[in-house]
Amino acid sequence: MKKHIALVPGDGIGTDIVEEAVKVLDGIQKKFGHEFTYSTYLAGGCAIDATGKPLPEETLKGCAESDSIILGAVGGPKWDRLPSEIRPEKALLGLRGELGLFCNLRPAIIYKQLSEACPLKPEIVGDGLDIMVVRELTGGIYFGERGRDENSAYDTMSYTVAEIERIVRKGFEIAQKRTRRMCSVDKANILNSSQLWREIVERLAPEYPDVSVSHLYVDNAAMQLVRNPRQFDVIVTGNMFGDILSDEASQITGSIGMLPSASLREDSFGMYEPIHGSAPDIAGKDIANPIATILSVGMMLRYTFGLTAEADAVEEAVSKVLDASYRTADIYSEGMKLVGTKGMGDLIAQAL
Ligand code: IPM
Ligand code: MG
Repeated sequence: MKKHIALVPGDGIGTDIVEEAVKVLDGIQKKFGHEFTYSTYLAGGCAIDATGKPLPEETLKGCAESDSIILGAVGGPKWDRLPSEIRPEKALLGLRGELGLFCNLRPAIIYKQLSEACPLKPEIVGDGLDIMVVRELTGGIYFGERGRDENSAYDTMSYTVAEIERIVRKGFEIAQKRTRRMCSVDKANILNSSQLWREIVERLAPEYPDVSVSHLYVDNAAMQLVRNPRQFDVIVTGNMFGDILSDEASQITGSIGMLPSASLREDSFGMYEPIHGSAPDIAGKDIANPIATILSVGMMLRYTFGLTAEADAVEEAVSKVLDASYRTADIYSEGMKLVGTKGMGDLIAQAL
């Protein structure tokens, strides 16, 4: 298979981790006889510094013309005081919105090799956690009408029927491939947009009779995630609630440096990135954990390119290296073998 991949390392540790992801992709092309080519683009703070804009046209165009995108992370204290229209984060929203990447998949898994890192009591997590947060990514309050003057500021949460239907359908379809439980999260006791959301979930449910559906208000969902996370399989929710709950879900696994994500369009084109941020304090020091980005490559092979054996190979290679006790600093515990960013990338590429 011949594919052209847009690399958008971004800021902070973005460059460190994307480099390792490419190492693993190169390993995959050798092992399975594919041809992957790459172009690298600026986005985020580094793009603001170089061009004055968080998302230069060249980046958007290059990404749109690619077969898939791998993104590191954007942002950092250097750009924190800029107005929201020209902050690094705007690059992410621009890519998501302009490319129509409405379906954000954020798995929260406890790796058995790292189960002691989970901050919840063992009796709460039992033999593990495997939750998939399906977050709507191109609508809601992130993209609604907004404004501010001297005395006030506002943001609007609005959803169309079509926007809700397509993400809810994704939730159902993903639940069908898992343990067939889907929890829809909203704030339907207060918000109009949530009432519409809930009605649509109820209306579509009969088309997926094998999936059992539940509804939770977002405040309750946040509480249930730490009280009894094992009740969840697929969580489908809007943009902002999904932002918050996916951070919470990732943290309760204790493995935030391990968790990948996919942002997909209807035709399976996608952008792949780790869930964690740009960690500017450790950038360039060869200590960041590249596994979340490497597993994002696995998701890309699976979801956008349909290369199941290749995706499995990436996941197995990560597992093998963890089984052999290699750890980056963020997941290190006593008795393990400490390695840096590059060391971890090399080990995973070799394990392929
Ligand atoms: C995320 C991040 C982004 C978001 C920011 C950086 C714009 O928190 O991907 O979850 O809020 O969506
Ligand atoms: Mg977030």
